[in-house]
Parts: sequence; C-alpha cells; structure tokens
Amino acid sequence: MLDLGCGNGGKLAELVADGATASVGVDVSGNFLGTPPPGLELVRGDLNELASMPGLAGRTFDRILFLQSFGYARDPVRTLREARAILADDGFILLTRTHPIRYAVERAEEHGTSLGEEYFSSAPFSYLSGWNDRISLTKRRYTVSDLVNFFSAAGLWIETAAEPQLSEDARAATRTSRSG
Ligand SMILES: C[S@@+](CC[C@H](N)C(=O)[O-])C[C@H]1O[C@@H](n2cnc3c(N)ncnc32)[C@H](O)[C@@H]1O
Repeated sequence: MLDLGCGNGGKLAELVADGATASVGVDVSGNFLGTPPPGLELVRGDLNELASMPGLAGRTFDRILFLQSFGYARDPVRTLREARAILADDGFILLTRTHPIRYAVERAEEHGTSLGEEYFSSAPFSYLSGWNDRISLTKRRYTVSDLVNFFSAAGLWIETAAEPQLSEDARAATRTSRSG
C-alpha cells in the first residue's frame, strides 16, 4: 500500500498490522511515528512530485490511498496520472475527501447567498484554522463532477463513489415528514 499524505503513518501502521505488506507512507511534514512496524516505510515527500520521488522509483502498489490529502495536489490530474503509473494492473486508488456541499452550506449561511451560488463558485475561500488563530486556510472549490472528471482525465475509472448518508434518526424523520 502507498498512503499519500499519510500524516504520522498511524493508519497505515494499522493496515500493516492487519496484513498489508511492503507499505510506504508519504507526508510532507516528516512528522512520523517513532518506530514504524516492519513492512512500513515512512518517507518525507511531496505528493505533487510522485514521478521523481526516490522512495517510489521502480515500485508498484496494489492500493494507493489519498485520505483527506488530495486537496494538496496542485494539479489533481497530474497527481492521479503519476499515481496511476505506479498502480498495479489490478490495483485501485482509494480517495476520501470532504463533500463539497459542506463548504457550500457554510459559505451560504455566512454570506446569505444561495447554495447553488456557493457550490458552483470558482473563487477560493479562506477561514481561520480551528487550531491556531494566527493561521488561516485557503481552499479551492470543487464539485462532485470535478472530482469524477479528474479521474477520467487521468485515464482511471470509478468503481464506486459513496457520499455521506443520513443517520438512521434523520432518515426516519425524513420518512415521517414526507408521509405527514
Ligand atoms: C488532513 S491530513 C490527513 C492525514 C491522514 N491521511 C489521515 O487521514 O489522518 C492531510 C495531510 O496531508 C499532508 N500534506 C499536505 N500537503 C502535502 C504534500 N504536498 N505532500 C504530501 N503530504 C502533504 C499534511 O502534512 C497532512 O498530514
């Protein structure tokens, strides 16, 4: 497995404990677990430069993970193409990312604008980080179709896409209000 933007490598260490072998975690921070388990290599590197990353040269991976890290890809299609080049033939990429409707709802509530305007706006937005009031974060917007199209443009196909679902309580409330 290859985990791109792996943080301290803890999640990958769990997968290695569950049987993953010859795994590599890459993170730009270099702030890794003190003693990675055997079979896990943690490499400081930039996911924007996969093609020239020394730790990855000549290797292929059965699974490539982007867990909440794909937003750091400056050129998303290039990053996916470079990931595809080191993906085993029957391998797959697993990517999790915040659903963009969340940001649209937040911005619409903040600005008194419509959900549609915020969802389809291409202007980046900034907000204060939750952990340091001197650091603000800037996000580029994306829609669900942008994400799908990044995969197509990189020559990949999507086996499954999943969106967050309502909780059982919220689902039951929707059924009640519909039937009422
Ligand atoms: C939201 S955290 C997710 C960490 C981990 N994947 C998880 O699910 O817990 C995003 C991670 O991406 C890393 N990151 C940011 N820019 C990066 C880059 N250009 N190349 C590699 N890692 C990067 C950050 O250091 C951080 O560890």
